[in-house]
Amino acid sequence: MTSSPDHWWRDAVIYQVYVRSFADSDGDGVGDLPGITSRLPYLRDLGVDALWVTPFYTSPQKDHGYDVADYQDVDPLFGSLADADALLARAHELGLRVIVDLVPNHTSDEHVWFRAALASAPGSPERARYLFREGRGKDGSEPPNNWESVFGGAAWTRVPDGEWYLHLFDSTQPDLDWRNPEVGDMFEGVLRFWLARGADGFRVDVAHGLFKEESLRDQVITASGKASSGHVNPDHSMVKRELSDEPMWDQPEVHDVYRRWHKVLDEVGADRMAVAEAWTQTPESMAAFVRPDELDQAFNFSWLLTGWSADGFREVITGTLAAVGPVGASPTWVLSNHDVVRHATRYGGGPQGLARARAATLTMLALPGSSYLYQGEELGLEQADVAHELRQDPAWLRRREGIDDPGRDGCRVPIPWSGTQPPFGFGPGKGQPWIPQPADWAALTVEAQTGVECSTLEFYRAALAARRTFAGTAGDEVEIIGEDHDVLTFRRGPVTVVVNCGTAPVQLPAGEVFAASGELPGGVLPPDTAIWLR
Ligand code: BGC
Ligand code: MG
Repeated sequence: MTSSPDHWWRDAVIYQVYVRSFADSDGDGVGDLPGITSRLPYLRDLGVDALWVTPFYTSPQKDHGYDVADYQDVDPLFGSLADADALLARAHELGLRVIVDLVPNHTSDEHVWFRAALASAPGSPERARYLFREGRGKDGSEPPNNWESVFGGAAWTRVPDGEWYLHLFDSTQPDLDWRNPEVGDMFEGVLRFWLARGADGFRVDVAHGLFKEESLRDQVITASGKASSGHVNPDHSMVKRELSDEPMWDQPEVHDVYRRWHKVLDEVGADRMAVAEAWTQTPESMAAFVRPDELDQAFNFSWLLTGWSADGFREVITGTLAAVGPVGASPTWVLSNHDVVRHATRYGGGPQGLARARAATLTMLALPGSSYLYQGEELGLEQADVAHELRQDPAWLRRREGIDDPGRDGCRVPIPWSGTQPPFGFGPGKGQPWIPQPADWAALTVEAQTGVECSTLEFYRAALAARRTFAGTAGDEVEIIGEDHDVLTFRRGPVTVVVNCGTAPVQLPAGEVFAASGELPGGVLPPDTAIWLR
């Protein structure tokens, strides 16, 4: 596989900034663009190559920016277009690339198009940009089909004149009709707008969703009795045993959109990229998004859906490489993001969860392709408990009755920078952030961990620095060594990686240890620990 020097993303480490929760410059308790700009030196020193910034466009914030009312402006909550320009300029000065988030599946219900659609009659061109349909049943009072919203409840909402509109997410996020050419033209304009301002790439939200099967037929609910949500779905493991019927996801027509975008990006420069968020059902369908004339990368969520197990990790690594290799794309690896429980908590929480999280991170960072990190994981943050009355995630608000799942707020708590009490330097003064931070985060601040040899932050800094010594030159081949149920061993170029997922210490293989996720007392590799040897 050849890697053009322009294709910087092929071995990049990309850090996800969740705008609301990274750094607040004006003390209103919500993170913002000037806050990010002020902290860019931190990201450079951490050793990442790029940042992906979650949506900061004009938005009523019903889904914290994933409900966009104006794709070509900045929400005043986060700053201004001039602040976006300043962020891009400063990042580039520091040698960091910037990926912006693009939300093409749906708009906000406050977008001018949707307002116009509501103000216009059924059958009008204004309605034809969305998926308005008549209902079923007596007086059309039943939704047009049986689809469910990813956030719970019916995927349809009725408007006063009796028609229904489709929303695969919240009712404030109406789905666009991508069969209408106006929609594609609008998004080409949006791409060009941000490229011209200097964006290095796009993270494409719900990339597998844009087209629905044209008939909008009912979903066939499988024998197991469960409709697939096509999203953040634990069923989407590497080896999918039974495929669900998904007329709302992953339709073949979507690939023409990405062929068009590929040309737009190429026209601007070979150094611009796009990464798909596509919760497809199989590795092969994921790979289709990264064919040479489509997008450059797709998030590989299989690791994030796999437990702490050497066999599981092995399956994820071999399955991923087998899927993306044939299309020539670079693999990606993700352990955490703003939609899932933080990996230290998924692996059991406490000291053991953290040890495992660090080991999984070190393992991921040795692999070919790029790694996506989520803000706060470098501090060892765990999922926070957010009290019911403070929760804001629409996925929780729509479902709240009778479910155990507390929603996604717990991984979105503003990160602690300094000091001993909230807001831990997140913003100036004592103003409290939009979601309260746990009082016991004092030891986890950037300040508290800096210079502390075995802190999680110093571990990340050391691992990222060590990665730079081989990531660009070690090639894309991974040789898995052995089939031990407890210990995963693999070699990539000059580097051997050993991860102990078992319960007993194991002998260190020969070689010089040049990175470790934890201490190695007595010259053995303890459980829940990974090392790099050369
Ligand atoms: C984003 C979510 C968002 C959803 C709807 C996603 O996959 O990552 O945070 O709620 O798309 O836009
Ligand atoms: Mg602010």
